[in-house]
Amino acid sequence: MAHQVKEIPTKPYDGQKPGTSGLRKRVKVFQQEHYTENFIQAIFDAVPPQGATLVVGGDGRFFLKETIANILKIGSANGVKKFIIGQNGILSTPAGSHVIRKRKANGGILLTASHNPGGPDNDFGIKYNMSNGGPAPEGVTNKIFEKTKTISHYKVLEAPQVDVSKIGSFSYGPSEVEIIDPVSDYLEYLQEIFDFPLMKNFLHNSPQAASFKVLFDGMHGVTGPYAKAILLGALGLPESSVQNCEPLPDFGGGHPDPNLIYAHTLVEAVESAHIPFGAASDGDGDRNMIYGAGAFVTPGDSVAIIAEYASEAIPYFKKGGVKGLARSMPTSGAIDLVAKDKGVECFEVPTGWKFFGNLMDAGRLSICGEESFGTGSDHVREKDGVWAIIAWLNILAYVNESQTKVQGGAPAVIGIKQLLEKHYAKYGRNFFSRYDYEEVSSEGAAKLVDKINAHISSGDLKGKKFTSPSTGTEFVVKEAFNFDYTDPIDHSVSKNQGQVVRFEDGSRIVWRLSGTGSQGATVRMYVERYVPASAGPAELQRDTADGLKALIEVALEISSLKEFLGRDKPTVIT
Ligand code: G6P
Ligand code: ZN
Repeated sequence: MAHQVKEIPTKPYDGQKPGTSGLRKRVKVFQQEHYTENFIQAIFDAVPPQGATLVVGGDGRFFLKETIANILKIGSANGVKKFIIGQNGILSTPAGSHVIRKRKANGGILLTASHNPGGPDNDFGIKYNMSNGGPAPEGVTNKIFEKTKTISHYKVLEAPQVDVSKIGSFSYGPSEVEIIDPVSDYLEYLQEIFDFPLMKNFLHNSPQAASFKVLFDGMHGVTGPYAKAILLGALGLPESSVQNCEPLPDFGGGHPDPNLIYAHTLVEAVESAHIPFGAASDGDGDRNMIYGAGAFVTPGDSVAIIAEYASEAIPYFKKGGVKGLARSMPTSGAIDLVAKDKGVECFEVPTGWKFFGNLMDAGRLSICGEESFGTGSDHVREKDGVWAIIAWLNILAYVNESQTKVQGGAPAVIGIKQLLEKHYAKYGRNFFSRYDYEEVSSEGAAKLVDKINAHISSGDLKGKKFTSPSTGTEFVVKEAFNFDYTDPIDHSVSKNQGQVVRFEDGSRIVWRLSGTGSQGATVRMYVERYVPASAGPAELQRDTADGLKALIEVALEISSLKEFLGRDKPTVIT
């Protein structure tokens, strides 16, 4: 049967430049005539899909269904052989990465703007992933951008709209469509990776079971169905263990970013009911926050603790070993200490998950994390919020069980807080905080960068002493530099990935301009102070803000930040 393909004339739009997180714009921008269609055609012009299998899904946000219909029409007209689509268009970003890998697809299109708010007045995004399950590298995204500049037509298959709400396969013009359960492949994979029998036993039959409560907050993003299948289904926890777990096109009006500010519904619930284990994930399921009663886990500590226990507690790493560890440059050095202790390689890469992918594909990296609430491993090629949360649960089950074996009887429960304290007692603590100055003037931000650069090139900070006005603590500068990175696998060089001032006592300040903001500039200032285990529990368990007060004052002084940005306080502190 001949299939009707129509060529629709169009004109290029400016600014369709995707980053590695894809093309992210306001929904209203995507709704302009031919705008979305142009971009989809440009993907297929850059990466011709003849005979290809393509995975498609997203985080459930507004404009998802319309875009899937467009991908089907345009993809089929361009030669896609098979589409694998999550039921109702749902696939978390890490689950999408897994489906691409497991089913040996040629690539995938993930429809998400991650943790940005959704709805008709907020954001939408289209991201292309490669056959390794990871985001398209710059060479490919640049090629897509080039195609958007010269586009004159896009092709569509003339066919009725497809129903993506029922699981099953059918043909669509010359292509095949398979609608899959978005959760089952992923759940099956996590059941291979983690020790479910151990967790189940701990949660139901152990001496600690009665006092170990769990609360997961889906923030009305994509992870709700995953969390329900895992926590309620596979682990048999009660309904009260999950909240905000219905994906909504506008995330219930919230900002689906799991941090202390935006995930306050979790923080409040955990504190008021003294829940030892709380966690949240973002809109598309790649970020996570671990938060137990009285204890916020910084992402730097989180990945360090996962690395500490992985090869003992988690079957995937027991079997395959931990090949190497890594963090992004601004992330605290807690994981470096674990790497040293275990004698494995540790990499420091620029901000952005893409930098981990090459190391993973080369078999040199197993576990990694970023301060921006991203944690993951080489099980997929995206960061993975639910994976990180289940890793913590697996580790806590393991640690509690080990304690019961040693002590017998009914030992006190080890929750998140106790595990952190145990870690600090072994390795010391990397006090860490990030100050965000959002939507400041680009000129002010540029002046701040120039001032620090002037210090870096003149070398005048070296040896200089700074004293905190409020505490009298002194910091002597050891070095100041711009962070450049040479990829150890493909030897590509990324320059100016953040400005760093390091002090004699090991403390550090980093300034970076955000690469993901959509208005003006966002300056991020990261402060880190290391306190050795020998300092003792009182020092190690200090409040973060208190432990970093002196260093923050010095950071503000060195950068003249208030003067340049005209801001007395940051917009967000994490
Ligand atoms: C995205 C990437 C992360 C990265 C973050 C940095 O979320 O997936 O890997 O850490 O952006 O954002 P920023 O706003 O600091 O540039
Ligand atoms: Zn995300």
